[in-house]
Amino acid sequence: MHLLLTGATGTLGRPLCADLLRSGHQLTVLSRQAPERVRALCGAAVEVWSDLAAWTPQRHFDAVINLAGEPIADARWTAARKARLRDSRIALTEQLLQRIAAAERRPAVLLSGSAVGWYGDGGERVFTEAAPAAQDFAARLCADWEAAARPAEALGVRLCTLRTGLVLARRGGLLARMRLPFSLGLGARLGDGRQWMSWIHEDDWRELTLWLLAHPQARGPFNLTAPQPVTNAEFTAALAAALHRPALLAAPSWALKLAAGEMAPLLLGGQRVLPEHAAALGFHFRHPSLAGALRDLLG
Ligand SMILES: NC(=O)c1ccc[n+]([C@@H]2O[C@H](COP(=O)([O-])OP(=O)(O)OC[C@H]3O[C@@H](n4cnc5c(N)ncnc54)[C@H](OP(=O)(O)O)[C@@H]3O)[C@@H](O)[C@H]2O)c1
Repeated sequence: MHLLLTGATGTLGRPLCADLLRSGHQLTVLSRQAPERVRALCGAAVEVWSDLAAWTPQRHFDAVINLAGEPIADARWTAARKARLRDSRIALTEQLLQRIAAAERRPAVLLSGSAVGWYGDGGERVFTEAAPAAQDFAARLCADWEAAARPAEALGVRLCTLRTGLVLARRGGLLARMRLPFSLGLGARLGDGRQWMSWIHEDDWRELTLWLLAHPQARGPFNLTAPQPVTNAEFTAALAAALHRPALLAAPSWALKLAAGEMAPLLLGGQRVLPEHAAALGFHFRHPSLAGALRDLLG
């Protein structure tokens, strides 16, 4: 297959490219970075585009994987940053859809990004893909990102939206940020620690993404989360145990609210999400439990 990818240079995209190239697929990567840097990150064989204008109607892709987006938790949500968070996802997805519509031969499938932020802060409620989007900024971002991809269905392109949970990766992402304080014995529960964390091992994320690519019966939203979400207190204890360190501290809610501003719900809120659609179609998770996933990732 020949695939077009956006966001391929990121934490999730890089290992995905490696898998796809290993399987013999051809890749074109849309990136803001220099072509040699993209090839160093994604693989020497990838074609690099700096602009979607390169997609002429004559050019055919079998599939498109759309992951690009300004990182959501790296800085406070100022008005300018919120605009970048939205434009980098929604405007880019709209442009992709224009190109898909104009293609003489359209791709068979579009896998397009989203996140479990779709569900908002849900307390003890359990969410499957059937739940509607919440109303906070992160939820609206996800809802508008999915809505931008939805015209693909009317164009005859199979669409799966990837409602990704907290991805636990060997390099980068959440674990990279938490590893140092936890290794120093400074790991802390956030607030009362009762908020739910819907996590997924990076290998399961990738396998499920490749599985959605390959299964024509898969369409619609998919929660890319392990079948056993945990509370923040459980996550804190499991990570400390995996690193053989104590985690006796708690970061008080007021301090987190002060530091994170409107982003505080990302830390103090959470959602208990189940991967119902993947399970119904028979996808098998290699790392269903957090303790096993952390053992695998942290050695
Ligand atoms: N990792 C997670 O735990 C997680 C959880 C839920 C959802 N997601 C979503 O899944 C997607 C991939 O995640 P990731 O962890 O791999 O993200 P990442 O490491 O931050 O990489 C995202 C990619 O998006 C592109 N990008 C960043 N800012 C951009 C901007 N302003 N305009 C256009 N492109 C921009 C970059 O590609 P170039 O530099 O090559 O242009 C970058 O490689 C993201 O959209 C993320 O929101 C991730």
